[in-house]
Amino acid sequence: MIAASISDYRALARRRLPKFLFEYVDGGSFDEVTLRRNREDLQRIALRQRVLNDVSQIDVSQTLFGQKWSLPVALAPIGLAGMMARRGEIQAARAAEARAVPFTLSTVSVCSLGEVRAQAPRPFWFQLYMIRDRAFMRDLLQKAREAECSALVFTVDMPVPGSRYRDYRSGLAGASGVAGATRRFMQAARRPAWAWDVGLLGAPHKLGNVAPVLGSKSGLEDFFRWMRQNFDPSVTWRDLDWVRQEWSGPLVLKGVLDADDARSAVSAGADGIVVSNHGGRQLDGAISSAAALPRIAEAVGDRTTILADGGVHSGLDVVRLMALGASGVLLGRAWVYALAARGQGGVAHVLELIEAEMRVAMALTGTRTLADISEDILDD
Ligand code: GLV
Repeated sequence: MIAASISDYRALARRRLPKFLFEYVDGGSFDEVTLRRNREDLQRIALRQRVLNDVSQIDVSQTLFGQKWSLPVALAPIGLAGMMARRGEIQAARAAEARAVPFTLSTVSVCSLGEVRAQAPRPFWFQLYMIRDRAFMRDLLQKAREAECSALVFTVDMPVPGSRYRDYRSGLAGASGVAGATRRFMQAARRPAWAWDVGLLGAPHKLGNVAPVLGSKSGLEDFFRWMRQNFDPSVTWRDLDWVRQEWSGPLVLKGVLDADDARSAVSAGADGIVVSNHGGRQLDGAISSAAALPRIAEAVGDRTTILADGGVHSGLDVVRLMALGASGVLLGRAWVYALAARGQGGVAHVLELIEAEMRVAMALTGTRTLADISEDILDD
């Protein structure tokens, strides 16, 4: 199949990946109500078609945190991306670099900060969780500084992980030891192209940033156990002072869904926030990003940079979220499906698709620059 859209890449990823990996990327928590809401609420937003406006010159470039990018779009941090394609984070970082959009490396990536920096030399963003072991965090932040990461995306919506039923059913979570490994092996055996590209040639399959503290216990379930045991549920707004002391660059809080929290984020000195429910992977039943954005934009839009994610499957969705108050949009599953299907070329293609779709949406809503995109282009 030739992929013409992000939904096509999803279908290709499903065919290419072993079940436990596709379900990990594709799934949400509990009954996946919020996962569906993210998509449905975006699709329900009607754009106002306007005509005869001279839209021959459209500028989609955006400045975020002092850097100019070719699109108002960044690649979101995705755990285990390096399991979706061989050294996947490097392939995605290279695609982002070529299109001049930010790539965000997850703490729980396969490739370490140092490996990505060596192979994709443009500064990227780094995502971090609050981890109990502050010395380990300090060390990671030091590595992020050495890699010249140009923003820290600090995830605040994961003091505890949401339960993802699909991961239990597939054998990624829950089934430990030989039983889990056997199930995953059987699934991988049914996906020979992946087994060759990633299973054989894509090693080591460790989480590069975390491996140093895991020692010899570095199987997939060891990492999940580490995540459960080491994420710090006691984290409060006061801990952000500590993060601030350790990180002097732009600090972006990812996972804000409430206007009061957005105000607190601004008071705590965040340079930006990502309006997000973690792609429907955490609090199932929470509102969609599209529903949260207008309230948050009204509360803090003039005081901080608002980014958003959740359910973005096209450039039309990017324009919709911008009309609701975002200055930039994070793509999550969209780039990972493409990475799984076609590697770096797939991610580059997704960015091309997003740009082309944005240009159509802007032309037909009569907007020429991103600054022209406002709630005025929405029909309600
Ligand atoms: C990690 O942040 C995940 O959502 O799996």
